[in-house]
Amino acid sequence: MVSGSGDDEARQILEDLAAKAGISLSGAKIRRSSSRFCLGVEHGDYNGTELFGVGTDRFIWMAFRPNDTGRLRLFSGNFEGDGLIDVSLEDIPEPGTDKESWSRFPLGVAWQLKRSGYKLTMGMDAVLYGNIPGGGMSRSASLTLNLLISLAEVNGIEFPSEMGIVDLAQAVENDYIGSPCGNLDQIMILFAREGMGTHYNPADRSIRHVPLGPGAPDFRIMSLDTGTIRPGLEKSTYRIRHAECAEMVDLCAETFGIKTLGDVRSEELFNAILEKYGSSHPHLCKRLDYIFHAQQRFARMLEAWRQGDVTTVGSIFRADGFGLRDDYQISGKELETMCDIVRTVSGVLGERMLGGGDKGASGALVLSASEEAVRSAVETAYPRSHPEYAGSFAVHSCRMVDGIKLLPGWE
Ligand code: GLA
Repeated sequence: MVSGSGDDEARQILEDLAAKAGISLSGAKIRRSSSRFCLGVEHGDYNGTELFGVGTDRFIWMAFRPNDTGRLRLFSGNFEGDGLIDVSLEDIPEPGTDKESWSRFPLGVAWQLKRSGYKLTMGMDAVLYGNIPGGGMSRSASLTLNLLISLAEVNGIEFPSEMGIVDLAQAVENDYIGSPCGNLDQIMILFAREGMGTHYNPADRSIRHVPLGPGAPDFRIMSLDTGTIRPGLEKSTYRIRHAECAEMVDLCAETFGIKTLGDVRSEELFNAILEKYGSSHPHLCKRLDYIFHAQQRFARMLEAWRQGDVTTVGSIFRADGFGLRDDYQISGKELETMCDIVRTVSGVLGERMLGGGDKGASGALVLSASEEAVRSAVETAYPRSHPEYAGSFAVHSCRMVDGIKLLPGWE
């Protein structure tokens, strides 16, 4: 990106795409949706833990305007080969009938809105472009939220609450796309505010914005894209971990009275569960081990953030990474290569795999003065370890930004 956010370049790209697709931008607006970076508890959303994260400046930009033909007409600069998606709102296919194209997202959004009883009378013309790396920074949630909020807007739909938007967007992915994702990504994008972290408490579904404390050193959130392609969560280890956690809850529910692994908060309860199931179900105990300790670290991480103590936030991020690698066993070899490389660079405060797991991107918290050293370490070492990805890995240095933003459009 040449200038700060990339908005100017994106605007030009959208104009070029519109010309290519034969879509008019007259009266169109641009909605920009961010990526996200989770600081904890990764994999905690479907385990009932509190969550914390920030919006990051890799985005999807969508220029959109209503049409009165009752059709969705969309063209994506990231999937030009898929051509113009052109479907009547009357004719949205049922889940599973559509091929593997990105069009599942707009179709799923329309399907979910209709299923929830909203009337779609206006169609939408749109062109999109994004620069969010795949696997770890929530590209799919960003796309879903952008489409959902925009299609609702052109139809004059007002949602009863922001948490309702989170639930609808998650339902698009769960019920239409077939991804077993939780709600972390949607929450961290929808509520993201520049310079702040978003703290979600599942007990009352509350959101608190937590500013980074004063005196924090200048630091960067870096995404280390391994260049690997992660298949959907439904086809990855994610689904297996999801099922294992549910199995562990089932085992413990009656004797220990828990409803999620996040309910295991005391050392005493944790030890009692290990005592009972440690030898019969060692792998399930390992999953619990990660969730339990990550949850214990979470409160310290949040306090450190409030204090501007990024060094402690980074060291907890690192400790979570070891838990995700060794106990939750959701990382992947390329993700760990990235972590091993950047861990050797001074000024790297913490590093770990990001998001769903197996493939995609790792992340690091880095003092700004060390950003170039991180780039150079990765550029030298990563292709030596994984020459097959020499042409596709990338290093992104991100800032904290607002999650959803409307930008000026065209007259
Ligand atoms: C993916 C899912 C989220 C969450 C993370 C792991 O991004 O979409 O719901 O479970 O993995 O924290």
